[in-house]
Amino acid sequence: MSAVITLNDGVEIPQLGLGVWQVDDDEATGVVLTALEAGYRHVDSAQGYRNEAGVGRAIAQSGLPRDQVFVTTKLTNEFHLHEDARRATHESLEKLGLDYVDLYLIHWPAVIKYGEAYLEAWEVLNEAKAEGLVRSIGVSNFNPDHLDRLLTVSDTVPSVNQIECHPTFARTDMAAELTGRGIVLEAWSPLGQAQDLQNPAIGAIAADLGRTPAQVIIRWHLQKGHIVIPKSVTPSRIAENADVFSFSLDADQLAAIDALDSGNRIGADPATATF
Ligand SMILES: NC(=O)c1ccc[n+]([C@@H]2O[C@H](COP(=O)([O-])OP(=O)(O)OC[C@H]3O[C@@H](n4cnc5c(N)ncnc54)[C@H](OP(=O)(O)O)[C@@H]3O)[C@@H](O)[C@H]2O)c1
Repeated sequence: MSAVITLNDGVEIPQLGLGVWQVDDDEATGVVLTALEAGYRHVDSAQGYRNEAGVGRAIAQSGLPRDQVFVTTKLTNEFHLHEDARRATHESLEKLGLDYVDLYLIHWPAVIKYGEAYLEAWEVLNEAKAEGLVRSIGVSNFNPDHLDRLLTVSDTVPSVNQIECHPTFARTDMAAELTGRGIVLEAWSPLGQAQDLQNPAIGAIAADLGRTPAQVIIRWHLQKGHIVIPKSVTPSRIAENADVFSFSLDADQLAAIDALDSGNRIGADPATATF
């Protein structure tokens, strides 16, 4: 498996990773081990997924050198204030059983519930980076106005913004915005939580290429420069989703997928999310 993106802080991230939202802690160990054996070198967890410990067990059991596995986790919304965020980042490391995390994200700006507390969280992530507890820091579900506000507390530009992005919710404007800021778009729910797999246009391209709909969508993300973190707990799908580096989509196929954008947001809107 290949393809690495260099982030704005020089950190290299494998472009394809395994998402583990809605995977129980116990199940996460086997799922992540399966992925590591299939060649994945990047796992996307979060405090809120309650499976950091399971992910950490898999990394330990894999026997892989620490620097061969890229681990992302995310700060839970209720821990944005300074002391809470400091404690929470240390708790992530303890649960993961790691000395450092590769990428730490603020999970949501959570402005409706916590106002601008996310600015304190950003200060803490900057401190954690300076202390060597995290290699790279970024955000998730941030709109341009939230990104602007971060610059009032630190010159650090987030390395990534992990946002909902899939063919029927392609985020073209946001992608251009992030590119202009030097931030890489990391696509969550990259398969549209499996909804986009049913799209007939995706199915037609998959049939033409002798590939699966999931492989076609993951390939579209890769060729658009997104970091992509499909989730699966199914060993055959975990392997299928990683077998995407020996074919490519041509310009017409890319354009046909681009044309599927219908503003089909599945998750919460960061501007109005109440959690
Ligand atoms: N930052 C955020 O706020 C946020 C929000 C949502 C998600 N995320 C991250 O993004 C990751 C991915 O998003 P997601 O889990 O919402 O959705 P997703 O990856 O778009 O889709 C996952 C669904 O697709 C199925 N699937 C996966 N590969 C398949 C294949 N080859 N063929 C058929 N079905 C397949 C999975 O089934 P099985 O598992 O049953 O195989 C699961 O039902 C999450 O795990 C998480 O790490 C972040």
